[in-house]
Amino acid sequence: MDHFKYRDRELYAEDVPVSKIAAAAGTPAYVYSKATFLDHYTKIAKAFAAVPNVICYSVKANSSLAILAVLNKAGAGFDIVSGGELFRVQKIGAPMNKVVFAGVGKSDEEIAAALKANILMFNVESEAELENIERVAATLKREGDLKEPARVAIRVNPDVDPKTHAYITTGKKDTKFGIDLGRAADLIAAAKKLPNVQIAGIHAHIGSQITEVTPYRESLGKVVDFIRSARTKEAPLQYLNSGGGFGIHYQDQAAPPAEKYAEVIVPMVKNSGCTLLLEPGRFISGNSGILLTKVLYTKRGVDKNFLIVDAGMNDLVRPSLYGSFHEIWPAKSATQPPTRGGSTPDAASVAKVDVVGPICESGDFLAKDRALPKNLGRGDVLAVFSAGAYGFVMAGNYNSRPLLPEVVVDGAKFHVVNKRQSYEELVARETVPEALL
Ligand code: LLP
Repeated sequence: MDHFKYRDRELYAEDVPVSKIAAAAGTPAYVYSKATFLDHYTKIAKAFAAVPNVICYSVKANSSLAILAVLNKAGAGFDIVSGGELFRVQKIGAPMNKVVFAGVGKSDEEIAAALKANILMFNVESEAELENIERVAATLKREGDLKEPARVAIRVNPDVDPKTHAYITTGKKDTKFGIDLGRAADLIAAAKKLPNVQIAGIHAHIGSQITEVTPYRESLGKVVDFIRSARTKEAPLQYLNSGGGFGIHYQDQAAPPAEKYAEVIVPMVKNSGCTLLLEPGRFISGNSGILLTKVLYTKRGVDKNFLIVDAGMNDLVRPSLYGSFHEIWPAKSATQPPTRGGSTPDAASVAKVDVVGPICESGDFLAKDRALPKNLGRGDVLAVFSAGAYGFVMAGNYNSRPLLPEVVVDGAKFHVVNKRQSYEELVARETVPEALL
């Protein structure tokens, strides 16, 4: 569980009432619990301890430097997907021998930067990318900038349905990700001829918010068979990377605990003789953060009523983009929110509303037809739960709205680790050339 709990009619983040954070940092604001991040990281570390492993936290889920530094101190490695994420993990002094680099579109500059940093390995997504890594590595070698040959894992596409939202399904053959198992063998054969590339393993990330273990059994079954047949002296395939994807509780308590995933994955890894790499993002960060927002106005429509709040789709896009459910509940409340152990509120005390933001689009909503306490009004602070993953990282400046602050709570203390963007910062990189006018 997480460390966002109601005590004395108030929501606390660890030992701090969130209303205090809203007063200090303003709203909207993201609030993270350090203890929850560490708890979830530790749950995975414990569950998979029976096999040699590196847990590479997926930076894309929540890339706050402060959070990365906390996880680095706890022993995590990192899964990155861009030069920007490489910069972040370098900035916090993460050991590069625990960094893996995924993504279908790595640029030459990104590949060169990662090679210079001597990361653990690239997860290679295509034949063309493999050739390009060889080319960039050869150039660096000529310039005396290549420390070691590029280690790569082949990202395979096992054609398995992870049974999640279509936009976050990656392991089916009609997606842009990975290489089908048939062609992976050819790619390994081709790679053996490349002097600056070493094949270190196989990677399979089949999707995100996966709440069943069967897709992992199916995918890794195929991967382990493949590893056992394709392993040679030149391609020892010593790493099996099962990617990320472990689901969390949003609306119902549907997500299995880390041990359930481990029960399936650990025996298969043992059977492969590999070191396991994991890339969990959401499992570690999702329920470690909330979004605080304030009610600006209540509005009566013809068929619906609206709570207009100060956070919009630019601050948290998941409901608009995926139709995702996030629990929303007032920060001051005598009752617990229904999905977090509270009893179903009696019908007379709640009313259905759409919780909407200030953005000029009908797609700008945080919740639709949601039963919320009737007495909510201007100035009330609401908590949007399970917003620690793919929240701030997907925020943007649409409607020229400044990026919102991030706050980390640690016991009875809290720290603003990312300040709210100012209007001056919003336009700082722009110019109006005289010549245009
Ligand atoms: N590894 C790779 C190669 C990935 O592409 C991803 C996520 C992960 C690991 C981490 O997956 P996780 O453990 O967090 O499920 N924006 C979407 C999620 C996109 C996931 C992208 N890839 C959302 O808000 O649901």
